[in-house]
Amino acid sequence: MNKEEIFDSYKENIMPTYTKVPLVFVKGKGSRLWDIHSKAYLDFFPGWGVGNLGHCHPKVVQAVRDQVSKLIFIPNNYYQIPQAKLAKELVYWTYPAKVFFCNSGAEANEGAIKLSRKYGQGRYEIITFDDSFHGRTLATLTATGQKKYQEGFQPLVEGFKTVKFNDINAVKNAITDKTVAVMLELVQGEGGVNVADKDFVLGLRKICDERKMLLIIDEVQTGIGRTGKLFCYQHFGITPDIMTLAKALGGGLPIGVMVVRKDIADTLQPGMHASTFGGGPVISKAALAVLTAIQKEKLLANASKMSEYLFAKLNELKNKYSTIKEVRGLGLMAGVQLSIPGKAIVEKCTESGLLINCTHDTVLRLMPALNITKKEIDKAITILDTAISLVGSS
Ligand SMILES: Cc1ncc(COP(=O)(O)O)c(C=O)c1O
Repeated sequence: MNKEEIFDSYKENIMPTYTKVPLVFVKGKGSRLWDIHSKAYLDFFPGWGVGNLGHCHPKVVQAVRDQVSKLIFIPNNYYQIPQAKLAKELVYWTYPAKVFFCNSGAEANEGAIKLSRKYGQGRYEIITFDDSFHGRTLATLTATGQKKYQEGFQPLVEGFKTVKFNDINAVKNAITDKTVAVMLELVQGEGGVNVADKDFVLGLRKICDERKMLLIIDEVQTGIGRTGKLFCYQHFGITPDIMTLAKALGGGLPIGVMVVRKDIADTLQPGMHASTFGGGPVISKAALAVLTAIQKEKLLANASKMSEYLFAKLNELKNKYSTIKEVRGLGLMAGVQLSIPGKAIVEKCTESGLLINCTHDTVLRLMPALNITKKEIDKAITILDTAISLVGSS
């Protein structure tokens, strides 16, 4: 198929739910991608948060190859080795817990919502936050604190209250005798790369303990090393009751996980929740390879080091351009708050071979792979610098 035939097929046969960029990618390696014309791109937003190891990491490729020739799939009413190993590994790196495997971030959050309701025995209200993003299923869409995603899908699911982020009094005021949980991202990704205050998070933990409410931490985007620690909650001195994971854990294959505090994990009993493909052998093997690579290749240390470098470089740009209002984030999750819409800058970067994202209209989002190098950061910053100077600067 040539490029036009591909575009035609999408137009004719695929529902138009995504705003498309007219690029066809055929190959990826590390932080580089190649399009159908063999043009190379530097990917500073790999897989929308999926590519923490970059593209086609050799350990993931090898793991998938090994497993795919042995056993591709076995349903969850039987036992299999990769899933048992992955569960053990996830619990080892987190807290005393049991896990539930599914296929996406929304599905993991949906599971957390269901578990909370069952645990609540009549308490069902969940408090979430302005500018949050938790997924596109009906319940996670309701949990998401952004009206633009909800328009046209009413009536939404009952039992969610959305309050101001980083405002502990707003949480206190929203609690009723029906409240069972609080759900949040510690760094809001889609909502503009907003970092939670430590005191706020400690306050939430305290309230949840006092009221026997569950603290659900959505680490779909922040997990698996993205913020310089394996899980973002480790920056905040708290332990979640439920943590949800997805995106980067699968190394490019679809996975979702709900990591539930051990003493409440048996709330969901046989028949109460399920997911046909959840934690299949191939994906579990791939996820094990991701966790191994992060440890063996010391990627958390690299992410922290490169984070310092990236933020220093972005702050230099901030000093140069008044269109940059703020640079914020954690680890390798960086947001550049602009005073103008970021779309044209993203497009200029793309033309020059750098892929970045813009969220919330005015926030450039950079989330390079954890194995990014200084040289690659320098290249990205040079392209970004030129793009900003061309689009709008002073
Ligand atoms: C924090 C967060 N939660 C949940 C989701 C939904 O994940 P998925 O698209 O895998 O359903 C996303 C996706 O961007 C996310 O960033």
